[in-house]
Amino acid sequence: MRRLLKPFQFLQALRDPTGGLRSRLFSSLRKRPLLPALLALTRPGRPGPQTQQRASSGVYAAKVDTPKTVSPHHQVSFDNRKVYVPWEKGVTSSFHNIWLRDSCQCERCFHPVTKQRLLDTFAIPEHIRPETVEAQAEGLHVVWANDGHTSLYSWAWLHQHSYLPVLEKPAVVRRTYWGEEIADEPPTVEYDAVMAGDAAVGDWTSKISEFGFCFVSGVPVTPEATQALVERIAFVRPTHYGGFWDFTSDMAKNDTAYSEDALRPHTDGTYFTDPPGLQLLHLLHHEGSGGASVLVDGFRAARELRERDRDAYKTLSRVRIPAHSAGNDDVFVRPAAMPRPVLSHDDTTGELIQVRWNNDDRSTMSRWGGRDPDVAIHQFYDAIRRWNGLLTRSDAQYWFRLQPGKAVIFNNWRLLHGRSNFTGSRRLCGAYINMDDFVSRMLLTNFGRDRLLEQI
Ligand SMILES: [Fe+2]
Ligand SMILES: [Zn+2]
Repeated sequence: MRRLLKPFQFLQALRDPTGGLRSRLFSSLRKRPLLPALLALTRPGRPGPQTQQRASSGVYAAKVDTPKTVSPHHQVSFDNRKVYVPWEKGVTSSFHNIWLRDSCQCERCFHPVTKQRLLDTFAIPEHIRPETVEAQAEGLHVVWANDGHTSLYSWAWLHQHSYLPVLEKPAVVRRTYWGEEIADEPPTVEYDAVMAGDAAVGDWTSKISEFGFCFVSGVPVTPEATQALVERIAFVRPTHYGGFWDFTSDMAKNDTAYSEDALRPHTDGTYFTDPPGLQLLHLLHHEGSGGASVLVDGFRAARELRERDRDAYKTLSRVRIPAHSAGNDDVFVRPAAMPRPVLSHDDTTGELIQVRWNNDDRSTMSRWGGRDPDVAIHQFYDAIRRWNGLLTRSDAQYWFRLQPGKAVIFNNWRLLHGRSNFTGSRRLCGAYINMDDFVSRMLLTNFGRDRLLEQI
């Protein structure tokens, strides 16, 4: 049985109650030039669009979407299984009754302050159904038959969370891939601005999201000022190397990072289940020679590999590489659950989300996941040889000199970093930040809490 309710008259005037955030997070490719640099869409299995134009400032305020409305020519309806919401352009979303009741957004079902669920899912009758459904200006009103509870779902919320069919694509970070030419105009922000207000933190985190790194100039040459800078994004992530580091080349931690040796491009923490998200480095002092720094865009290298050698790309996406940190007597760190591949993808979108690569921290590889070692070993060494070739090509590498007063922060899930060898005494400070904490700050400083809350 399908029960029709009275036609809805006034939804054409409906405005997007998210104030446009959803538009920016979930807009179409066609609209991308209007979007902030931060966010765009990629297709499954593809690491993203080719080099993008630079973002212009101020676009966050732009409203670029049309409201999601219910057609005045259609009617919301329900039956014993689902509620049906017809949208303009002839698409109808259907929502299972139990799902809709379980997702009620009212204050009794969802705590307005803690943003946590209050509803006892298991008190909902298995075969719950509405008594009435009604389209109103602010959204869909449902009165439930079992207990008369009233739910209101905004049109924007229903459109965003529609799963049958899915109407909005998940947001992914917009990226500008780069090579050595980034040296002409590397992304940079000013220390004073970042310390003064969150708008500049939004600019900073947006640049980090887009390019994978950003310089901060005008930093006072002290560990205290540098730590304060890091903490404008989030609290420091401690590891067995400590919290905020202030170190010299004294091998205090029995790790090559504390030596004078050259370091080939790598990511940090391949031996963690959750590698550090961001790393900030600030050179406080260097008397001597050498010690140039290099950054490589790992996502660009991955894209090149995928385009040139799909098999090698698959191998790096599949083969789990054990890694360890065991240089100190009291440390024996390996990923707690299982080793990870060089390239990790989002299970649902196929999007590349993480590069892990440190050939120096690789453990002995003696398990090949049931694959014939005669084949698997050849494939693996062939794939990492090609990968290494892409990372070490001169046009992929951005070489620069760390300087007192100019800190660099980079995405350790995307960029690889390294340095040439050096002589003399060198004092560096810096810290890690967790990726989830960075993304939280990036979203809040770019979109605002109210808009983000519409997404949960
Ligand atoms: Fe490192
Ligand atoms: Zn409720």
